[in-house]
Amino acid sequence: MTTRDLDTDRFRLRRLVAQLAELGEVEVHDEPVALADLSAVIEASDKAVLFRKAGPEQAEVVAGVMGSRRRVAIALGVEEKDTVREYERRLANPQQHFEVPSSDAPVHQVVLTGDDIDLTRLPFHLQHDLDGGPYISSAIDFSVDPANGRHNVGCRRLMLRGRRHLTTNLTAPSDLKLTYRACVERGDRLPISFAVGSHPTSYLAATSRRPGDEFDLLATFRGAPVPMVRGVTNGVPAPADAEMIIEGYLDELGYRDLDGPYGEFWGFYGAAHIDPVFHVTAITMRGDVLHQSVLHGCRDMTRMEFSPMGSLHTEAAVYAALRAARISPAAVHASDAVATAQHVRVAISQDAAPGQARSVISALFALPGMKHVVVVDSDIDVRNDAEVEWALSTRFRADRDLVVAAGFPGFYSDPTVAGDGTVAKVGIDATAGAPGDSMENWRPAPPRVSRERRVGSVREALRDGPMYFRQIMDALGSDDGREIVLQLDELRAEGRLTRGPNWQWELTEKEG
Ligand SMILES: Cc1cc2nc3c(=O)[nH]c(=O)nc-3n(C[C@H](O)[C@H](O)[C@H](O)COP(=O)(O)O)c2cc1C
Repeated sequence: MTTRDLDTDRFRLRRLVAQLAELGEVEVHDEPVALADLSAVIEASDKAVLFRKAGPEQAEVVAGVMGSRRRVAIALGVEEKDTVREYERRLANPQQHFEVPSSDAPVHQVVLTGDDIDLTRLPFHLQHDLDGGPYISSAIDFSVDPANGRHNVGCRRLMLRGRRHLTTNLTAPSDLKLTYRACVERGDRLPISFAVGSHPTSYLAATSRRPGDEFDLLATFRGAPVPMVRGVTNGVPAPADAEMIIEGYLDELGYRDLDGPYGEFWGFYGAAHIDPVFHVTAITMRGDVLHQSVLHGCRDMTRMEFSPMGSLHTEAAVYAALRAARISPAAVHASDAVATAQHVRVAISQDAAPGQARSVISALFALPGMKHVVVVDSDIDVRNDAEVEWALSTRFRADRDLVVAAGFPGFYSDPTVAGDGTVAKVGIDATAGAPGDSMENWRPAPPRVSRERRVGSVREALRDGPMYFRQIMDALGSDDGREIVLQLDELRAEGRLTRGPNWQWELTEKEG
């Protein structure tokens, strides 16, 4: 691709927000809103929220862009039901990143260096009641490992420490943590460019752990090559079409300052940690920058912005694991109400061989993070809580259908992890299999009467064999039914009416 073909607005956050607004997915606040009030408004809304005048600088800030599977689907350009297929399709069609000069990078329209850098003019805001301070939750970090040139992308929160300094939470196990530790051992700094204001596909890449070039992974999830521009002060490439980039380096002094606490993605606060300090050497942005906040850690976890991304990653991992076990599920649904990949529901064919539900459970126990697997029949809509509850109440018997196993590696912030770092897992087999011949195993549904008249009377209709009342209505083209009752009554009076094995209406033998 040449720079001239470049459309640096196609994956721009502002463009997506405009599209979401057209589809009724954005709550817009034109009135001034204090930075202290942003989070309460964001968390109260089930839509994305656009503040046109946030804080005294009257910054434009959007939040909740990825806060539902529907919005993620819009970002991927598909229907909600097709998101996993699209995710897999994109991974099967790898794309690459390429570099553009600074002059072609919209994110370099404004460049602040030296004394012009003042982080306190950016809309850092307090996101939870007991957070250690205001932070940016939407930062995506781009780095190049100085030891081997490996490109890394992740998502890291940036807590405001002063006009030119930030702390970032680099405590959890991650590739960036390993790279930084190695830098510190060598006495080196680690340059990083943080993009703020990004397309949801960048978050998919940042939270994926897949082999290969992670800058390219960003392009792969976009389904298009991604233009990158080198930092003006640190030389580290970051997307040229981001809204803002904060450039700088983690210093060589290692872990030395308290970062946090933060309201965490697990639904609790996390402890403060000793973390590295980030020195900002440049802030670059678009002339009409749109700032982004990401709701991370809240009470209703379905609103947490990583939830729909996390459940998408999980569903793709579940399909892959079941394919490897030669199981074709009818449907898969990972819950948005829990952190990471803990809960999944799988529907399997009602004609599956005996034991198939157990095979699903054991295949999925092997997935990291997965703890609770519910298997239902394919007549249950796995996305519908009420249907799954019903299946649990009618098809699951605890002494027969429960699989419990312990001693699996746990996720570091799971509060149920045992002292040795392990967790227990449970599989619930709520399948009943094929419903069989008895009506008592069939689920009621509203009648759908075809009204294609084939015969002139109930007697004529029943000559073809036993029929449910609706089938008699079909045969007579009836859109009422009461006239059929009267004809049945006549047959009853003649002693010619009886009932079939599932209580169908039937003529007695003597009619013939
Ligand atoms: C909104 C958001 C904020 C996150 N914040 C942090 C963070 O502050 N520290 C961290 O280690 N991981 C954080 N993560 C998780 C990492 O981005 C994720 O584990 C990623 O895969 C790490 O990438 P890496 O292993 O390539 O470095 C966050 C994820 C999301 C979605």
